[in-house]
Amino acid sequence: MNRDGQTPLVELRDISIAFGGIKAVDHVSIDLYPGEVVGLLGHNGAGKSTLIKCLSGAYHMDAGEIRVNGEKAHIENPRDARAYNIETIYQTLALADNLDAASNLFLGREIMRNGLVDDAKMEAETRKIMGRLNPNFKKFNDPVSALSGGQRQSVAIARAVYFNARILIMDEPTAALGPHETQMVAELIQELKAQGIGIFLIEHDIHNVMKLCDRASVMKNGQLVGTVNVNEVTDDDILGMIILGKKPAHLAA
Ligand SMILES: Nc1ncnc2c1ncn2[C@@H]1O[C@H](COP(=O)(O)OP(=O)(O)O)[C@@H](O)[C@H]1O
Ligand SMILES: [Mg+2]
Repeated sequence: MNRDGQTPLVELRDISIAFGGIKAVDHVSIDLYPGEVVGLLGHNGAGKSTLIKCLSGAYHMDAGEIRVNGEKAHIENPRDARAYNIETIYQTLALADNLDAASNLFLGREIMRNGLVDDAKMEAETRKIMGRLNPNFKKFNDPVSALSGGQRQSVAIARAVYFNARILIMDEPTAALGPHETQMVAELIQELKAQGIGIFLIEHDIHNVMKLCDRASVMKNGQLVGTVNVNEVTDDDILGMIILGKKPAHLAA
């Protein structure tokens, strides 16, 4: 696909990985454009996490190619992925519960001044980025254990964005959230899109897929069933792809 001549942020091309005899990912190709959210769907074991772990550097693909901004990328480990501005927001969020938002944002990458951690500067930077991403966030001086699920999510996202994420991988960001908090994450995602960040979103809830994603790629048994524009399909079309492993008749080529 070529969106108005735009170069994709990410091209996953013909990616395959097997574990023992099992083809976990079998010749899968998916593109991601700037400012776009692509949902990854499919039953447990379909291969979603395995595919995305090739992009995040956690797994090595057996065959295929990953291109970032039109050029072949060499991603051997998570550090390589980060060098391509690829950041993963894990379901666990990987936050230090007893520390506040600023300390979490800069964990391991603290701002130093005269050999000391510059807490004031880190808090100021945190307020600046949260002001953009989640203007209602007020709990700058509480440990993140005191934050709601959505607020914690926003801290994890702020950390990725502060350190220049252009490509975000999110694994079921709304799984543990109520409707109000899910709405907050939806707004956060809109803001990331407006900044041109591309997002791969692993998501089980079809309703959230329709609401949050521009396109949806469905996998089954390691293979790509298809990628659809969500505004051209119904919830049932997508469910059919997940369950039957076929594109809806009106879209089948
Ligand atoms: N590290 C691994 N070792 C062996 N098998 C694995 C490993 N990771 C994933 N798999 C297998 O690959 C297939 C796809 O799994 P996964 O990518 O986790 O699916 P999904 O994320 O869609 O639920 C499954 O059969 C799973 O058991
Ligand atoms: Mg998974």
